[in-house]
Amino acid sequence: MAKLQAIRGMNDILPDQTPNWQYVEKCFQAVVRRYGYREIRFPILEQTQLFKRSIGEVTDIVEKEMYSFDDRNGDNLSLRPEGTAGCVRAADQHGLLFNQQQRLWYQGPMFRHERPQKGRYRQFQQFGVEAFGMAGPDIDAEVIQLSASLWQDLGLENYLTLEINNIGTAEDRKRYAAALTAFLVFHAEELDDDARNRSHSNPMRVLDSKNPDVQEALKGAPALVDYVSDESVIHYSELKSLLTQVGVEFTESPRLVRGLDYYNNCVFEWTTDSLGAQGTVCGGGRYDGLVEQLGGKPTVAAGFAMGVERLVLMLDSLGKIPEATAQVIDVYMVVVGGQLAGSAVLLAKQLRQRFPEIGLITHCGGGKYSNQMKRAFNSGARLAIVLEAESEQPLETVKIRHLIDSGDSVSVEIANCGDKLAEILGISE
Ligand code: HAM
Repeated sequence: MAKLQAIRGMNDILPDQTPNWQYVEKCFQAVVRRYGYREIRFPILEQTQLFKRSIGEVTDIVEKEMYSFDDRNGDNLSLRPEGTAGCVRAADQHGLLFNQQQRLWYQGPMFRHERPQKGRYRQFQQFGVEAFGMAGPDIDAEVIQLSASLWQDLGLENYLTLEINNIGTAEDRKRYAAALTAFLVFHAEELDDDARNRSHSNPMRVLDSKNPDVQEALKGAPALVDYVSDESVIHYSELKSLLTQVGVEFTESPRLVRGLDYYNNCVFEWTTDSLGAQGTVCGGGRYDGLVEQLGGKPTVAAGFAMGVERLVLMLDSLGKIPEATAQVIDVYMVVVGGQLAGSAVLLAKQLRQRFPEIGLITHCGGGKYSNQMKRAFNSGARLAIVLEAESEQPLETVKIRHLIDSGDSVSVEIANCGDKLAEILGISE
């Protein structure tokens, strides 16, 4: 029978790679802690309606990419394609938002049925932050600065560039969408089917068209910047000034609109050219209308999410993951003779209790001394503790052998094994 394989675009992360992931996770968690964000965890499955009402019915994510199905009760559910919708749902449902400020973070898998390629997967991991209840540009600046702090800690600050744009208020965009629709209808013959279909339902997505003919037809289209209200312009220029003051460099990209509908005012993306086509590592912005749109009391908000696979790929290709993050085993216990199993588990238990920081593998399953030693060398451990019975007598001594450096083997009484280990490994208790 053919072996079953993982689903296309859904990756296994193997033990050799998990230390790299843990390293990035640790760095992210250290940064969010420094900025006073608290972790929130919410389900991977939600009502499909939640994503339709937040991300938008006429977006690639909702139209083409969600994993949706009817469960056994007939409820239509979707695997979360992103975290913001679920975070808002959870925070509002539990009363964390009304008249309050919240700084939240999350991490976990997201699911989008996209065409897999390097840096683009169907199950992928995001780190995200969401800040609620703060209306000024200072919180926009804070979340951007938080991401910049992570780049600094990871040594990526020279490989990522920040693009920002002001997409105006929801009202501004409504006026702009009407003008753009009128333009697109007038030029309908020069558009492709996709662009024509979106001319009414989501005209701003037409601007992202990859078709050169459509891009040609868009020359002379109304520009969003001409429809953005003064209030929004002031917010944006204050944000730019704050970023400049904290030394975060940015470029302004008038075409940056993001692929999710809930944004307003400032949106941003961090991109790199070291990843090929999937160069966006992090994206976010303000979404002041979303909480209300999902049935909560009006609550302003801003946040971002970053793709962890893309970060790990980048760190790997740039050689930025410290060697020391690989998991190390300190001691491998070799146990020759089935009658010693009891002595081995007892000694291992005592050593683990006394030295909670060290990693100790006890050989299980018996076998010849030479085979066990081979495993000990392959484990990467610094030392082997060898339990070998000379006779049927209770075990009195064990041998400690160096596996990496060239120190001499020593025999010690079993009762003194811990002291000797501490001495060799330089553990101060
Ligand atoms: P997004 O731009 O759709 O925004 O995704 C954020 C990041 O997730 C991307 O920049 C990218 O690094 C990563 N990503 C997205 N799709 C994939 C994929 N198929 N494979 C690998 N990585 C991927 C959001 O999700 C918003 N919720 C961000 C946000 C939070 N806005 C406000 N708060």
